[in-house]
Parts: sequence; C-alpha cells; structure tokens
Amino acid sequence: MSELPLSGQTAIVTGASSGIGRAVALLLSEQGAKVALVARNEGRLNEVAEAASGETLVVPTDVSDPEAIQATVKTVLGEWGRVDILVNNAGMTRDNLLMRIGEEDWDKVIDTNLKSAFIFCKSLARTFLKQKGGRIINVASVVGLVGNAGQVNYAASKGGLIAMTYTLAKELASRGVLVNAVAPGFIETSMTEELPEETREVAKTEIPLGRFGKPEEIASAVAFLAGPGGSYVTGTVLRVDGGMATGS
Ligand code: NAI
Repeated sequence: MSELPLSGQTAIVTGASSGIGRAVALLLSEQGAKVALVARNEGRLNEVAEAASGETLVVPTDVSDPEAIQATVKTVLGEWGRVDILVNNAGMTRDNLLMRIGEEDWDKVIDTNLKSAFIFCKSLARTFLKQKGGRIINVASVVGLVGNAGQVNYAASKGGLIAMTYTLAKELASRGVLVNAVAPGFIETSMTEELPEETREVAKTEIPLGRFGKPEEIASAVAFLAGPGGSYVTGTVLRVDGGMATGS
C-alpha cells in the first residue's frame, strides 16, 4: 500500500468539534496525520475522535484564553514532540450594525477569531523554526476580503487574519514554514443554519454556483495547502466560495 500524503505528520485543528473544523480534522486524519482536536466541548471532540481514521488527541480549550492556548500547545508537544500543521479554524459571530454593536461583542469576536490564531502561531514559532518546516492554515472568510454590513467585528477579525497570513508568510518563508488562508463563502454549518431562511435564499442568488458549500469542500482546500501538493504555495488566500467573491 502506498504511503498516505500526511503520514508521520502531526496537526492541530482548532474548532474541531463541528462544521468545517470537524471535516478538516477527519480529512487530515484520513490522510495519515495525527490530529489534536481543539475546541471547548470535550464530549463533541470525543465524538470526532471516534470518527477519525487514526490517532487523535482531545484537548478541550477555550481559544479566547491565551493561557489555555499555551497549555494546549504544551500538551500536544509533550505528547507528540512536534507540530507540522496548524489549522486556525475556531471562530464565531456576534453580528450587529455599528450603531448597535457593543465593545464586548467586538472584543469577544476579535479574541476568538484573530488573537487566538496569533497566540497559536506565537506559541508554536520556536517549534516550527526548530523543525525547519511547517504549514499554518488560517480559516478566514470572503467577508474579510469584501466586507459585509452588520459584521464589523467579524469582518475585521477575518481581514486581520488575512493580513496576518501575508505577514507571517513573508516572515517565516526562509525557515520553510508556509502560511496560507482559506476564505470560505457560505458553507452549510451551524454558523449559517442560524441565518433566517430568507437571508439564505437571497445569499444563494449571489453565488455563481447557486448553492452553499459543504464543510468537506473547505477541508479539501485545507488538505491541499497542508499536503505535498502545496509545497510552493505561501502567502495565498484560497477562496472557496462557489465564485461569490470572484475578482476580489
Ligand atoms: P461552527 O460554529 O460549526 O464551528 C465553529 C467552531 O469553532 C466550533 O468547533 C466551536 O466550538 C469553535 N469555537 C468557537 N469559539 C471557540 C472558543 N472560544 N474556543 C474554542 N473553540 C471555539 O462553524 P463553522 O462554519 O464550521 O466555522 C468554522 C470557521 O469557518 C470559523 O472560523 C468561521 O468564521 C469560518 N467560516 C465559516 C463560514 C460558513 O459559512 N459557515 C464562512 C466563512 C468562514
């Protein structure tokens, strides 16, 4: 049997308990990586671990807490000694118009979606440099490219994630660390299930492919960037959006 593309590698996937993160974790596992599953809900992470193809490590973590992230990185390194792939996927929305949004909603979304990725990257920087290699994949959003009324905090967090991707790609390239982002459009997960039916229908009319994407369709983009096929790709934002933000 031929070797799997990610065999011998270890990955951390945040927000692995549901939606896109779950699909990413399962695909990386299927491709041979050992996967550390990070989110808050241990029970749901255990279910993902059971569905995975290979070795996993369940590490319940609130990513809006920097100390919790540092402890998680320590746990994973203590267990496996290396991290080859970091997928910063955990994210949340707290939507409101500028006139109504509170500072607390700004801080919570920035801390969860953006600062968490910075803390993970920083906590793993020494490891990546010592290994002389690694892949960082940030799950951003097309909203971070084109904006969206009612999502000032979320759009800023995703735009920040994209700018951080560009910056770290330049900073870490000479050490063999490749840094990219995936920018999903509308994907069928709990995040979009919350939207009113009318909003979902209007959204579909703005998507050239005429449908929402599936979590697995984001996972395959992440696996490409994490795998052998992505060896010359860094500093890129890969839109996986059914054509929605074409041209941006
Ligand atoms: P989801 O709600 O199913 O998953 C979000 C994941 O993040 C869950 O595992 C959740 O537990 C985790 N999470 C949230 N806050 C956390 C915290 N403080 N600590 C630890 N884990 C936390 O939603 P979905 O759609 O799978 O979202 C995954 C990523 O994809 C997010 O970053 C989201 O912004 C992004 N995205 C989703 C799109 C969509 O249409 N569903 C579109 C564009 C981007």
